[in-house]
Amino acid sequence: MKITLSVIKADIGGFVGHSDSHPECLCEADNKLAKAKQNDLIIDYHVTKCGDDLQLIMTHQKGENNTDIHEMAWNTFVSCTEVAKRLKLYGAGQDLLADAFSGNIKGMGPGAAEMEFEERISEPVVIFMADKTSSGAWNMPLYKMFADPFNTIGLVIAENMHQGFKFEVHDVKDSKKIIFSTPEEIYDMLVFIGAPNRYPVKAVYTRNGEIAASSSTQKLAFIAGRYVGKDDPVCIVRCQGAFPAVGEVLEPFATPYLVEGWMRGSHWGPIMPTGVADSLPTRFDGPPRVIAQGFQLSQGKLVGPRDFFADVSYDQAREMANKMAYMMRQHGPFEPHRLPLDEMEYTTMPQVSRKLAERFKPL
Ligand code: 13P
Ligand code: 13P
Ligand code: MG
Ligand code: MG
Ligand code: MG
Repeated sequence: MKITLSVIKADIGGFVGHSDSHPECLCEADNKLAKAKQNDLIIDYHVTKCGDDLQLIMTHQKGENNTDIHEMAWNTFVSCTEVAKRLKLYGAGQDLLADAFSGNIKGMGPGAAEMEFEERISEPVVIFMADKTSSGAWNMPLYKMFADPFNTIGLVIAENMHQGFKFEVHDVKDSKKIIFSTPEEIYDMLVFIGAPNRYPVKAVYTRNGEIAASSSTQKLAFIAGRYVGKDDPVCIVRCQGAFPAVGEVLEPFATPYLVEGWMRGSHWGPIMPTGVADSLPTRFDGPPRVIAQGFQLSQGKLVGPRDFFADVSYDQAREMANKMAYMMRQHGPFEPHRLPLDEMEYTTMPQVSRKLAERFKPL
């Protein structure tokens, strides 16, 4: 049975500020998706949030980039924005950058990760969703899951994984893509994916071309031409069998690493794994959060979720992230806490430079 798993998300308004989603908005989304399920447009769905981002997790049989699915998701975000406006939530409709739907939700503000596959006898999937960061945030964990034997012992001792994987890497500046084969090309690949802001990993495949992972890689600032919020990406990962085990897929997040985002999308900060209920970016609008929802698919039905990072085994990662947050915050407006000039999501540099132009004298 061929199933498409679509995760489409948007910030339609924050409660309070950019820290959380309002339950009435989630309820509205649930109503809309229940109707879509009744009308047989989708097989099943799960609505959740990560911080101020509304997450629509849907299964159907219409393939990726399907207009009907994307339009239904867009209309759901529009309805939820109306709720957000009534409650005067902060930045109501923040990620809806177009006036009307036009064929494909990509390029209109919301983020999407989708994959189509033949459902296996058992089909465990993990969906990662993050707030206060950007699409490159998945580069290091995807590398660890699919290419690092210190993370994924299956690469060494599991016969069906030993040959390695293929990574699809995008160049978001020049709109190009390239496929790397691992392990043999890891040094070449790391030259690029080590610069996650420019070269996000879009997808991972088995050597036979089966989809293993798919992520959202849109750049809001490119679409809007100015800072309108962070991209707050999502990523779907299939597990077990020819793919890493669930625990291998979750393992990279046990060691918090620095990502771009946090306050005003202009800082480096540690990514903190939490349960859904704790995905509440608070301190300095952060630190950035990541949640992991697990499902077993059964004829396209979403059996779940399991809220993986709510587990006690991630307590220490949260503690480490908090310590890293203090370390970074000590720098205040200085790099390397604040992003370099060309990567800041907003800046007063042009105005201030103009104002002071005459006072700058040759050395
Ligand atoms: P089980 O024997 O419980 O199925 O575990 C296998 C496995 O892959 C654990 O990572
Ligand atoms: P969001 O993209 O999550 O709305 O973050 C915006 C921001 O600037 C937080 O400080
Ligand atoms: Mg917001
Ligand atoms: Mg957000
Ligand atoms: Mg955002």
